Amino acid sequence: MRHAGARDRGGPTARPARPAPRGAGARGHQQPALPGQRRPGRRCLGGEQRRLAVPAGTLSAVDRRYSVGIVGGGQLARMMHQAGVGLGIDVHLLAEAQGTSAAQVIANTVVGDYTEFDTLARFAQDVDVLTFDHEHVPTRHLRQLGDGVEVRPGPDALAHAQDKALMRERLTSMGIPCPQFSVCRTPEDLAAFGERMGWPVIAKTSRGGYDGKGVWKLNGPDQVGEPFAAKPETSAGEEVVIVAEEFIDFTRELSAIVVRSPSGQAVAYPISETTQTDGVCVETITPAPGLDGHAAAELQAMALRIAGELGVVGVLAVELMAEDSGRVVVNELAMRPHNTGHWSIDGALTSQFENHLRAVLDLPLGAPDLRAPHVVMTNVLGGAEPDLTGALQHVFARDRAIRVHLYGKEVRAGRKVGHVTACDNDLEAALRRARHAARYLMGDPNA
Ligand SMILES: Nc1ncnc2c1ncn2[C@@H]1O[C@H](COP(=O)(O)OP(=O)(O)OP(=O)(O)O)[C@@H](O)[C@H]1O
Ligand SMILES: [Mg+2]
Repeated sequence: MRHAGARDRGGPTARPARPAPRGAGARGHQQPALPGQRRPGRRCLGGEQRRLAVPAGTLSAVDRRYSVGIVGGGQLARMMHQAGVGLGIDVHLLAEAQGTSAAQVIANTVVGDYTEFDTLARFAQDVDVLTFDHEHVPTRHLRQLGDGVEVRPGPDALAHAQDKALMRERLTSMGIPCPQFSVCRTPEDLAAFGERMGWPVIAKTSRGGYDGKGVWKLNGPDQVGEPFAAKPETSAGEEVVIVAEEFIDFTRELSAIVVRSPSGQAVAYPISETTQTDGVCVETITPAPGLDGHAAAELQAMALRIAGELGVVGVLAVELMAEDSGRVVVNELAMRPHNTGHWSIDGALTSQFENHLRAVLDLPLGAPDLRAPHVVMTNVLGGAEPDLTGALQHVFARDRAIRVHLYGKEVRAGRKVGHVTACDNDLEAALRRARHAARYLMGDPNA
């Protein structure tokens, strides 16, 4: 079932024959399926499926390049591709439009609507495994793709990152600490929840929200109409309801990132402290300052348990809210590389992007350990400076160790257009360096 493009690689420009890899199959790494687990799919990872019909003796009989299809053309796909380049992975992209952040750099890009089943199915035919830059692909389409297509994470897991009502119900039933919540279909339901809990309460759209869009803090019953007026009826064809939540007066937000492969191998990154302003992540500090080892290990174990029970493949980011009392509750789940894990490109032995690719291909996962005692990631948000690259002169001249990542996006106020990372032995120095670079890139000459 491999597509014509793959066969084309066996054409005149194909690489010369090379020795067969050691061990069974075309891959060195073949993990036995665990009880109850499906073997990797028809086309994915099995040596037989990767044999190409090419004349013996002239060309390689085995194509060992993996191909991964990413749905969604944002910066997460761009950075996944960047990790894939070093692994020799063919990344294919289904982008919303020409010229998106990832479409600028991925040669195998098709532009299409991921909410259309036929577009998705055609795209999936060309790749070993399908994965995502965002969580908005309709799960019913992913289910409809059937067994012939490896979708990682699969729709049953992904649904919990798409639907906050489902996520709250599932996590609460697992005994995972969450804010109290209620699924509301009318303003009256929401008002009743507020009366029961006491105001303020948080209201969220169950689907389709991002960067704080679709989240309201309601101070009283007179405001309950607002989320219902603003919410869409449906998102990617699924009903959107309002999830009312207990207002958590958190002292800080944390993030637990784990990566799990289909064979059940998993790694946990150090816990990060994260800062959101107006719902948008602006900064992360890793490891989270002042979080003792025991508490951090418990949060990692919780995230690993969620990943295991939900059957997540790839990155799972668990957004957390920490209260003064020490209680930590889950905010939401993401099943893709996450903004709070961007620090790992420069600050960990293996980045979240590489580990996501390794996981979806069922390759052994890389060590998530820190490269430095303190790693600060600061987002570059669109500001007064439209020319980001012009500011590099200053930023690099001032700090030889600063790491800058720009996403190729047009600068618009508040839009995530890049991030910077500072690794340091001293936390204050890391904060100072990262903030200076990010602010300067954002157009603040007095940064
Ligand atoms: N129950 C709550 N109590 C207090 N603050 C909350 C609560 N839920 C969410 N928040 C705040 O709102 C922010 C955005 O919420 P949430 O992560 O659910 O929205 P989102 O739009 O899906 O964000 P993302 O960009 O992470 O996808 C959180 O990071 C947190 O700061
Ligand atoms: Mg969030």
